[in-house]
Amino acid sequence: MTIREIISQATRQLEDAGIPSARLDAEVLLAFCLNCDRLELIKNPERMLDDAERKSFHEFITRRLGWEPVAYITGRKAFWSFTLEVNSNVLIPRPDTEVIVEEALDVFRTHPVDQPCILDIGTGSGAIALALAAEIPGAQITATDISDAALKVAKENALALGLDHSITFLHGDLFSPVHGTFDLIVSNPPYIGADEYEILPAGVKDFEPRQALFAGKTGLEFYENLVYQAKNYLKEKGWLLLEIGYARTMRDY
Ligand SMILES: C[S@@+](CC[C@H](N)C(=O)[O-])C[C@H]1O[C@@H](n2cnc3c(N)ncnc32)[C@H](O)[C@@H]1O
Repeated sequence: MTIREIISQATRQLEDAGIPSARLDAEVLLAFCLNCDRLELIKNPERMLDDAERKSFHEFITRRLGWEPVAYITGRKAFWSFTLEVNSNVLIPRPDTEVIVEEALDVFRTHPVDQPCILDIGTGSGAIALALAAEIPGAQITATDISDAALKVAKENALALGLDHSITFLHGDLFSPVHGTFDLIVSNPPYIGADEYEILPAGVKDFEPRQALFAGKTGLEFYENLVYQAKNYLKEKGWLLLEIGYARTMRDY
C-alpha cells in the first residue's frame, strides 16, 4: 500500500468510528510511525510501506479506534514553543492553557519584577512552568503536583528542555509542600464536576488521569481551597492566575 492509500483507508475507519479529526489523526500517526513529519507524507504520496511499517501503523490505528488520544499513542504533545513528553499519568496539555502563559507574561511586562518567584500548582507535564521558565530567564519557579507519577514526567521534560535548573519540583497537596511567598501563582486545576463524567468524550474519561480532571461534585472544590489559601503565599501585589472551565462562572462560585 502507498502512503496515499493507507491514509485514506485509516481516515475512513476513524470516521466510521465517529472520531473527529480523522484524517489529521491518521496523518499524525503515520508520520510518527515513519519517523517523519506530515509534510513528508504529502510530498511522497506514492511511497510504498513495508510490512513492518504497515503492522506498526495498524497497531496505532487500532488503539485510536479505541479512542486512545493521539498524544498518548505518540507519547508527545506540542505546547507553547516545544514538544513535551506525555503519558497517561498526565493531562495532555491543551492549547487553551497557553492563554495562562500569555497572561503571566503580560503581568510581568506591565508590572516588571526582577527574577520573579512563580508557583505552578498542579503542574502535570510541567507545561505552564516550563513555558514560563523558557520565557522568563532568571525566574525562580516552583512546580507542585499531588501525583508523583506526573512530577516524574514534568522533571523529565525539564531535563530534556535544559530547564531543570530553573524549576524546583515539589510533591504534595495544594500548598502543603510550599514555603515562602510568590509574585505569581498559576494553576490549571482539575475543574470537572463528578456529575459531568458521563458527558465527557471517551478519549478524556477513559484515558486521562481522574486526579487531573475532577474536583468534587461541582468542579469548584479546587478553586475554593486554592483561592482561600493563596493569600498566605502571595507577595504584596502578587498575582493569582487560574484557568477555569468554560461552563463555570463567578455565579457558580
Ligand atoms: C488539569 S491538570 C493540569 C496539568 C498542567 N498544569 C496543564 O495545564 O497541562 C491538573 C493537575 O493538578 C494535579 N492535582 C490534582 N489535585 C491536586 C492537589 N490537591 N494538589 C496538587 N496538585 C493536584 C493533578 O495531578 C494534575 O496534574
